Amino acid sequence: MRVIVCENYKEVSKRAAEIVADQLNSKPYSVLGLATGSTPIGMYENLVSMNKSGKIDFSSVKSFNLDEYYPIKRDNDQSYHYFMNEHLFSKVNIKPENTHVPNGETDDPQKECDLYEELIERSGGIDLQVLGIGQNGHIGFNEPGTNLCAKTHLTDLTDSTIEANSRFFEKKEDVPTQAITMGISSILKAKKIILLASGSNKKQVVEELMSDSITTNNPATLLKVHPDVILICDKSACSYYDLGVDIGGTAIKFGVVDGNNVVHKYKVDTNKDSSEALINQIVKEYEKITKEYPISKIGVGVPGRIINSLVSSSNLPFDNTNLKQELSLKTGMPVKVENDANCAALGEALAGAGKEYKNIIMITLGTGVGGGIIIKNKIYHGRGDAGEIGHFAVNYDDDKTPCPCGLTGCFEQYASVTALVKLAEKYANDNKDSLLYKLYKENSKLDGMLIMSAYDGGCRIADEVLNEYVKRLSVGILSLRNIFSPDVIVLSGGITSRGDVLLQKLSNVASLDIPVKISSLKSDAGIYGAALM
Ligand code: F6R
Repeated sequence: MRVIVCENYKEVSKRAAEIVADQLNSKPYSVLGLATGSTPIGMYENLVSMNKSGKIDFSSVKSFNLDEYYPIKRDNDQSYHYFMNEHLFSKVNIKPENTHVPNGETDDPQKECDLYEELIERSGGIDLQVLGIGQNGHIGFNEPGTNLCAKTHLTDLTDSTIEANSRFFEKKEDVPTQAITMGISSILKAKKIILLASGSNKKQVVEELMSDSITTNNPATLLKVHPDVILICDKSACSYYDLGVDIGGTAIKFGVVDGNNVVHKYKVDTNKDSSEALINQIVKEYEKITKEYPISKIGVGVPGRIINSLVSSSNLPFDNTNLKQELSLKTGMPVKVENDANCAALGEALAGAGKEYKNIIMITLGTGVGGGIIIKNKIYHGRGDAGEIGHFAVNYDDDKTPCPCGLTGCFEQYASVTALVKLAEKYANDNKDSLLYKLYKENSKLDGMLIMSAYDGGCRIADEVLNEYVKRLSVGILSLRNIFSPDVIVLSGGITSRGDVLLQKLSNVASLDIPVKISSLKSDAGIYGAALM
């Protein structure tokens, strides 16, 4: 079962009508299964206006309603015949002879039920079935304890259904106690099903529907055996989650976020064959996730530039790709796309080391230096691509360290882990009796962790390397502090697993009047930020 979480009832109605419209437009001779009740009224209103404006045509459509009270006169204003005429049939160009509602006036309900079932089959079966859900989980009038194999049949209404429906009648005693309803087996034969739920009175039953159980005690859960069911519900009718997607050059991380907690996360290898393959990969994972977690929106972090919604990335097959549009078309979800470093900064700001503050600068120390600027809990974009924290010059005439960005002497050239390693290699070569040199030769390379191991082993040269590195880092930190006066600066990246060393050394070289903290979300910051955008 796929779940679409909408903001409110209006959006539920619109989304449901769009699915019906797609069905009619792709197959004008469609057979629709229709429901009554208060929930689909907004969907019918949308369908009526789409029909009036020529967007959909009912002239070849056949319809079968799920149910009708028994006994009841057609012209009783509480009959489902009356309801359907009122809300749809009399307002669109459907042929009256193509509409079917079980006959609540019949003297022979069994015969009516058999005939109804036969008529559905003769018309080729239902292409798209629209359902509402009762507070006790009933669909149609298949009440808890219903027979799985039942076809269209006469059934007794439960007290809770009579109570719930009494709102439409003058008094509870006026509610018929029986109904003719399509059975579970008739409903499950539909090729596609949409189930609509709105309002907090449906929350409990929708939550059961989202659980693992499939039980006749909550007939709606039986829909889970059907291969093509979409639950369209609003936020008041379900617990919902936000999906954060952090696309990296080697892996895509997915995180299902409930408020400030990641409740489910995993990663898959990035498919870099083409932009289409990568987008389809994300859609496929979204479809898997939404079977278990109702998702209300998707946020995506991507390493690259995003100008006017177009993403270009040197690490991914995106070249002016409208990722936001493509993903929202394919998932039907609201989608936001953001630079991955900005996402990580936002994640840290809203749910991590910066969550007590509003104005945050995050500096990510890795192969390069990245980061993000968060002002009043929002990403600062400038004209679109602000936040390139690694690319302001700290040494304007340093022609030995040209930067790929076009400047020379960029902060990144001094504060990245790449710069730290270069520095360490130089110091090691100049001090061949040091532990740092020994580790360098043993491993044929140096990296952040080896430098820290040498430092932990009491190596004076490693200590000097780190002092020099932190001195350079502090120049950038102090400059950023002076320009933005943030509430906090957060450092992240693999090297900050030894944040204790960095912070200690930083306090020796720079007198800062704001706190510097180490990222607490680590490599999950990106999925948090993407989800919380
Ligand atoms: C109506 C029907 C019922 C309703 C259900 C929810 O044809 O089959 O199952 O869908 O009782 O009703 P509302 O939408 O009024 O909450």
